Amino acid sequence: MPRRYVVGISGASGVLLGVRLLEELLLRPLEVHCVLTAPAELIMKKELGLDRQGLRRRFRAELRDKSLRLYADSELAAPIASGSFRTEAMVVAPCSVKTLSGIAHGYASGLLERAADVHIKERRLLVLAPREMPFSVLHLECMLRLARLGVVIAPPVMGLYPRPKSVKEMVDFLVGKLLDALGLEHELYRRWEG
Ligand SMILES: Cc1cc2nc3c(=O)[nH]c(=O)nc-3n(C[C@H](O)[C@H](O)[C@H](O)COP(=O)(O)O)c2cc1C
Repeated sequence: MPRRYVVGISGASGVLLGVRLLEELLLRPLEVHCVLTAPAELIMKKELGLDRQGLRRRFRAELRDKSLRLYADSELAAPIASGSFRTEAMVVAPCSVKTLSGIAHGYASGLLERAADVHIKERRLLVLAPREMPFSVLHLECMLRLARLGVVIAPPVMGLYPRPKSVKEMVDFLVGKLLDALGLEHELYRRWEG
């Protein structure tokens, strides 16, 4: 059975993080199940000039060979909605504070929140990259609640020690940190060696 990962992309700034994460995961012999919320699609259009069809074109080969499955948030009957569908881990990048709150409260109204809820109940690795600035007490309380359950809270916060020279290098650093959280090898940024 191929190792399966779930990627959730919700409606926060920095949708490129999720798209770049997909590209990196799909370089490996993995099966990736990705769910995009409707606000994420809106922001993807604004920030990347990419609509759902454009995204499908970008990952045409991976969709064809079924290493990538793409779902809308309304597809509640998708395999990742069930705990019986085995997966290694899930990453939500970027994670809006609305989705953060939904996950923290087990609301599970759409496929993304449901899949995250499944990862928590099945005690599988769940990594969230909440994107907001500044965070309110409400946001921080949701993060604390989830961190206490073992959820990895990995907001897209830059480290400047690799001296990034472009947005691409900055995004690669952040995606590299998400891959670190998943325990996957990569060379997306230069590690601090003292
Ligand atoms: C252009 C744009 C940028 C946004 N950026 C953020 C953001 O960085 N963080 C956030 O939590 N919400 C942001 N929002 C608001 C969310 O998209 C909104 O709360 C939405 O309901 C989130 O739904 P979802 O979590 O189901 O995707 C943004 C909205 C727009 C239109």
